Amino acid sequence: MCGIIGIVSTTPVADRLVDGLRRMEYRGYDSAGVCTVHEGELVRRRAEGKLANLVAALAADPAPGTVGIAHTRWATHGAPTARNAHPHATEHLALVHNGIIENYKELRAELNGEGRVLESETDTEVVAHLLSREVERGASPETAIQTVLPRLRGAFALAVAFRSRPDMLIGARLGSPLVLGHGDGEMFLGSDALALAPLTQRISYLEEGDWVVLTRDGADIRDAGGAPVEREIVTSGATAAAVEKGNYRHYMQKEIFEQPTVVAQTLGSYIRQADATVALPQLDVDLSTVKRITMVACGTSFYAAMIAKYWFETFARVPVDLDVASEFRYRDPVLERGGLSLFISQSGETADTLAALRHCKAAGQTIGVIVNVPTSTMAREADILLPTHAGPEIGVASTKAFTCQLAVLAALATHLAVRRGLMSRAEEQDVVAHLLEAPASLNAALKLDGAIEAIAPLVAPARDVLYLGRGPDYPLALEGALKLKEISYIHAEGYASGEMKHGPIALIDDRVPVIVLAPSGPLFEKTVSNMEEVRARGGKVILISDEEGVRQAGDGALATVCMPRVHPLIAPLVYAVPVQLLAYHVAVAKGTDVDQPRNLAKSVTVE
Ligand code: F6R
Repeated sequence: MCGIIGIVSTTPVADRLVDGLRRMEYRGYDSAGVCTVHEGELVRRRAEGKLANLVAALAADPAPGTVGIAHTRWATHGAPTARNAHPHATEHLALVHNGIIENYKELRAELNGEGRVLESETDTEVVAHLLSREVERGASPETAIQTVLPRLRGAFALAVAFRSRPDMLIGARLGSPLVLGHGDGEMFLGSDALALAPLTQRISYLEEGDWVVLTRDGADIRDAGGAPVEREIVTSGATAAAVEKGNYRHYMQKEIFEQPTVVAQTLGSYIRQADATVALPQLDVDLSTVKRITMVACGTSFYAAMIAKYWFETFARVPVDLDVASEFRYRDPVLERGGLSLFISQSGETADTLAALRHCKAAGQTIGVIVNVPTSTMAREADILLPTHAGPEIGVASTKAFTCQLAVLAALATHLAVRRGLMSRAEEQDVVAHLLEAPASLNAALKLDGAIEAIAPLVAPARDVLYLGRGPDYPLALEGALKLKEISYIHAEGYASGEMKHGPIALIDDRVPVIVLAPSGPLFEKTVSNMEEVRARGGKVILISDEEGVRQAGDGALATVCMPRVHPLIAPLVYAVPVQLLAYHVAVAKGTDVDQPRNLAKSVTVE
């Protein structure tokens, strides 16, 4: 949700700022802007829409200067127009912001009451004016920031450039991430290490309430009370190459095809191949006594949790409470002290999930986090950190992070079952053997790319699409519907197959494709019955099953996708592939923006 970057250097910064924004476009792409300090002036360029528009604006009217800040926006307050684009500026300073200033209305009223005119509809601009007011009263930038920060409620990562100070920037964070990059005779600020990847690998993570004065020679970091603090310099693993598209047309396509590799990498750190056992990394908490697990996540990560509930309950016989994070906190959940709460997130920054995590921590829960960004806020606040090794996921629609989450969750469920004495050595070895089959099965599923591309034209013209599944294929049906709607803008719903007759069947007619996810197995016959109910009403079925399933039930389907035969444990990972590929090819057929679908952002850092 918005990306910010700042550079203090001795050479021009505009191009590097824009390059940093390019790496953060996944955080939002409603508008973009740059402001440099040059010859005693603030040089500001802003443009509505994608970064390409800002690049064009800069080409027509460059922004010279060796100090600057920049922003890519996901609109929260105010339409995505150039006027609402950051940086927001006054006569004295310019500022970029990621987060939300919750008390902006009262601050705006106060400023208006003094005759100050704010030009945008954003929550951010009040911060620029509050700081400016302090500067006008004679305060130094440092004093101004110290006076203003305590007045802000909500979440923010800020970078501020001052007209009179071409030698420095100020950064501050509370609730939104901000990293400091250490260069050679230059310093950087960014929303994440990825933004700074080509500039430096030497990173410090600012802590909650920190603010920092950045000069070419270094950083003076202060905590919320103004006391000088040190923040460790770590080497960021983020590489510029990891965020290139390679030979693929879209990031999403590349990330779908990376799944065999990244799932293998992820499993590699949870499985000890020598004795075929599950071995969780750095686990110094005894999970054998866990009586109940609370799982909280959003979107695709929530569907991974839904699938895992089947595994935790079947293997480990531990009851699982599940919630989407935005609902969880506000329903006053019952949390027994000492229970385990598990949070699943690709970014590790999703505001709702983070707020739920902190709520559980305050309630005395042990905090487990399955996260793809190991330096994220959630990772740093976890008692048990279970990383996925999917690598940077740039496509807004989550794909490889999902299958890696499933791999970790399957390993964790197995670990719990063993620790609770419910799984014998032989059974554990059997489970491990099936998990290790996943990368090869994912590869086999990817070979169906051409077949799925051929089916896409059957779905692309539809206004509505239904996805059906039973057991763990039900959450996968929800995930399929989410993928399709977010990148192709086709209305899609996922249902538990057995629920059809309780209402949704009324939607069926010959214009509604119904995607049935049904690997052969104990639930297959029942799903086939539901499929027949759809067909009897003229519904157009696309069956995704294995050879046995297609042989038994493929007749009369509009199309079939014949998947490799896989063990039920890994079926949700493997069946994720056709679901992702179908959404991808439908979106390509419709000509939508696959990697940057409208209204979305990758990292949702606002509630
Ligand atoms: C869908 C998608 C979103 C995310 C959700 C949670 O393709 O990507 O639904 O899954 O915003 O994000 P994380 O996992 O970063 O907490």
